[in-house]
Amino acid sequence: MFSCPKIKDLDVSGKIGLVRVDLDAVLDDQVDPASNLRLRVIKPTVDFLFGSGALKLVLLAHYGRPEGVKIPELSLSRLVEPLEKVLGRKISFVESLDFGEINNLVQKGDSGSVFLLENLRFWKGEEENDQEFGSFLASFGNFYVNEAFASSHRSHASIVLLPKLLPSAIGLRFEKEIENLSKLFENPSRPVVTIVSGTKKDKLEYLFGLASFSDVVLIAGRFPDYLDDFSIYRKDNRFLVANLNPDKEDITIRSIELFEREIKRAKTIALIGPIGKYEDEGHRLGTKRVFESVANSSGFKVAGGGDTIKAIEMLGLSDKFDWISVGGGATLEFLVKKTLPGIEAFATLE
Ligand code: 3PG
Repeated sequence: MFSCPKIKDLDVSGKIGLVRVDLDAVLDDQVDPASNLRLRVIKPTVDFLFGSGALKLVLLAHYGRPEGVKIPELSLSRLVEPLEKVLGRKISFVESLDFGEINNLVQKGDSGSVFLLENLRFWKGEEENDQEFGSFLASFGNFYVNEAFASSHRSHASIVLLPKLLPSAIGLRFEKEIENLSKLFENPSRPVVTIVSGTKKDKLEYLFGLASFSDVVLIAGRFPDYLDDFSIYRKDNRFLVANLNPDKEDITIRSIELFEREIKRAKTIALIGPIGKYEDEGHRLGTKRVFESVANSSGFKVAGGGDTIKAIEMLGLSDKFDWISVGGGATLEFLVKKTLPGIEAFATLE
């Protein structure tokens, strides 16, 4: 893979920056927003850019899947306060979807201002990767930083068009995501064990991709239930498929023990997805035992995915991992394809 441009090499002094970030995060009122990984990772890049003399920053992000329609419940306004707390800076939320108005506000803003635009997916042009929409966004700033690893598997305007329209770089967190996730497939210590689970049938297509760098792929969640349609996995000895309890909400004790044995001999581990319906205490045993077994391994341990992170936090295991990725689908796609559309967008610059 080629090397993406870095922010330390970007000339930002006296300039307005567009920073694409991941705000697709469900916040719990009871929990300090500073503990939310997706929010937390934005701060070092924002501080770095201002520290390097950037004049103003415009944060760009999406939330949910409004599909080009303004849906009040999906407004980014609810993230302003938590983000101000995390960044330690005042944020000017731009509610207007009118490009002229947005431009006025940004240009008139004082130096040091941080703007947050409304949910990018309220505009059809974002998901349609529309050239005109991308050009409007680009007109608000002088440089672009992609700090949205978790969204970079989407070929959307703010991810793949902006790098072609402005001097650009990936953010500090994005750099580390590439570096750490690549360790799973670039000369890893073997055996490599990948634990994958989930409820979405479409994710099954990734299993062979994960097996391309793993010695063993342990399959849990609802996946085993789907595998009769995909019996090919049951015949391939790289895949170990858990048996489910009769209610299908967790894996059996024997399967937990089988997973623990594989994890014990692993030198590199990727953990993608909780093992069962961990939210219910009665179905948490598989997740608890398998996650604890990974956390206690002396191998290199990486985890990824929104639910995986929640389960790790719930079990108090966050400090035990070498890397916890902000991505869900993006992490899976990066491991399988070893690149993302948001990375390729930099590769094809002229
Ligand atoms: C994520 O949460 O994985 C990203 O925000 C991407 O969201 P999407 O699947 O709606 O594109």
